[in-house]
Amino acid sequence: MDTKIIFVGNYKGGVGKTTSVLNFAKYFSQSGKKVLVLDLDPQSSLSEILVKNNSQNGRQTNELNKLDGKKTLNYVYDLHISRIKKYNSIRLKFDDDIVQEYKKGGFDFIASSLFYEGGIGLDELAVRMEDTVEYLSILKQFLDPLLEQRRYDYVLVDCPPSNNLITRSAFLLSDYYIIPTILDGISTNGVAHYIKTVRNTYQQYCESSPDSVLMKHFFGPQPKLIGIFCTFIRGQVNYSAEMSALKSYVDRELKDDIYIFEEEINNYIDIARSTQVGESSLARNDYQVLSKQVLARILEMEKAN
Ligand SMILES: Nc1ncnc2c1ncn2[C@@H]1O[C@H](COP(=O)(O)OP(=O)(O)O)[C@@H](O)[C@H]1O
Ligand SMILES: [Mg+2]
Repeated sequence: MDTKIIFVGNYKGGVGKTTSVLNFAKYFSQSGKKVLVLDLDPQSSLSEILVKNNSQNGRQTNELNKLDGKKTLNYVYDLHISRIKKYNSIRLKFDDDIVQEYKKGGFDFIASSLFYEGGIGLDELAVRMEDTVEYLSILKQFLDPLLEQRRYDYVLVDCPPSNNLITRSAFLLSDYYIIPTILDGISTNGVAHYIKTVRNTYQQYCESSPDSVLMKHFFGPQPKLIGIFCTFIRGQVNYSAEMSALKSYVDRELKDDIYIFEEEINNYIDIARSTQVGESSLARNDYQVLSKQVLARILEMEKAN
């Protein structure tokens, strides 16, 4: 199976993670890739956008609060948590229609919801989990048969700005990750911290835990950083000081060759407005240009393997 799982993450909120997932999904699909999007953010803003803007055919709901709970990752977690706690021998299978087609973008997605069972979000479900292999493997157990069957080229994961067990399991099962950031001092520190957290998480479970042999066999190698890209760039501002601060901070903290994309995402109201209606900006091609480079970079990294 050749699916590459990529998470888009940063512990800082409002840096454009969700917007980036939507745009990457659309442009990857446009270049002929088969894409699945997973919304792991308990805020479920991407799900809200996709459900709301999905074309209606009479039967389809267009509000997240009316979405059938069985079509959410909350349901997947809820059932798996009960299984692990009570009936560990049961095998769970989920209906195919948990995967929804996002017609406007040409990709598929699996929603999460704030409204599941009267308001049990992914964050609350994460609290019910324990820090063990069984719970950390839920997402992969669920995804593997689905990926086998549907043969996606890419799975894009919108990761929340929190470090719970659901996020950690996403780190472990992913092949790649990419970090959007804004260019200011505080966010810069956050980026290096985030990279360290991803690395430490992998190391904790797959290299230095008593179960590391099992974990490593199950999750595969450590996720590789595709790169960092800058968002909310303002045309009139010269960012050379912030940019060199980011580079030297990352160099110093990580002592590693970290790729920073030259392609940047500008602060354009049209990007925000287009996201609200579940589309990419037609007036601005920043994401189109960046997405192309992201795909090229993944291919390069694949070859180097
Ligand atoms: N390049 C951009 N220019 C202007 N507004 C943007 C841009 N990217 C995102 N936004 C807006 O900024 C807010 C935060 O973006 P979002 O993608 O939700 O960030 P995150 O997922 O990291 O919290 C949203 O209202 C979004 O529409
Ligand atoms: Mg978000």
